[in-house]
Amino acid sequence: MTMQPPELVAFAEQCRNRVENALAQFLPSSTTLPMDLHEAMRYAVLGGGKRVRPLLVYAAGRALHADEQALDVAASAVECLHAYSLVHDDLPAMDNDDLRRGRPTCHRAYGEALAILAGDALQCKAFHLLAHAPMGPVNADARLEMLELLALAAGSRGMVGGQAIDMAAVGRELDIAELEDMHIHKTGALIRAAVVLGALCAPALDEGHRRALDHYGKCIGLAFQVQDDILDVIGDTQQLGKQAGADRARRKPTYPDLLGLSGARERAGELHQRALHSLESFGSEADPLRWLSGYIVARSS
Ligand code: IPE
Ligand code: IPE
Ligand code: MG
Ligand code: MG
Ligand code: MG
Repeated sequence: MTMQPPELVAFAEQCRNRVENALAQFLPSSTTLPMDLHEAMRYAVLGGGKRVRPLLVYAAGRALHADEQALDVAASAVECLHAYSLVHDDLPAMDNDDLRRGRPTCHRAYGEALAILAGDALQCKAFHLLAHAPMGPVNADARLEMLELLALAAGSRGMVGGQAIDMAAVGRELDIAELEDMHIHKTGALIRAAVVLGALCAPALDEGHRRALDHYGKCIGLAFQVQDDILDVIGDTQQLGKQAGADRARRKPTYPDLLGLSGARERAGELHQRALHSLESFGSEADPLRWLSGYIVARSS
């Protein structure tokens, strides 16, 4: 993996442990009926993935002294939503992929019908957590705001809308504005929401802070997918835990296609700088957000 500051390594390990424990508790056990469905849900969520969205929830929340129990819930909700999006993204009707997080994709392991249902149920789980799980001092108004934010980011004007644009773009040449619009929706929306969800776990979120973090999330959300496209070209299947070269094989328009590898890298770097700029009004309490922005554009998996 690309060099990361030791502080980021420690921060990430601590947050990954927290969210792993929370998810393992929140998801129904694999002995709860229907057992095969719950097994598929746990398979799709637990024991893999970089957990970038949960890390962003914790980093944004801690910059504003948010309650840790509330952050566990928000981080788990966004990861359940993300895991559902991966299960459906991998289906034969979409990207038709066999490998995810270094293992067979959910439909390869459990069959298509169960994978669709596991994705559906994970999406419901995300909203149920925000509505119901104990969140310390977070009040009902803040929960409602989180529910609305996640619903918008995940829906037809967010992630699902982006996926629809992606499917319609197969084999077509998009211009840079169209490509950017696709990426902002399919990947950017949920990452942006993760940052703001963390912020909403803090007591009395100030409007200026909210705007700054929202802009940070917007920049790194797009940068994340630019780097995903780059890694599809230069990455290695084993390290990625998913099939490299899949975009070209499926005739998906990507950043390296349109800008070349160096142009795509330049774009990611520019977005990273803009993200850092958004954090100027914060002190060292926002350092984890700064490290994560650097990691997102330099990562090799
Ligand atoms: C993959 O997301 C899908 C995209 C939005 C590009 P991640 O790269 O965050 O996947 P995991 O969670 O680490 O497996
Ligand atoms: C997926 O984008 C975005 C979502 C799952 C919403 P990709 O199709 O590029 O993700 P990977 O490369 O399969 O992880
Ligand atoms: Mg896809
Ligand atoms: Mg895919
Ligand atoms: Mg990809």
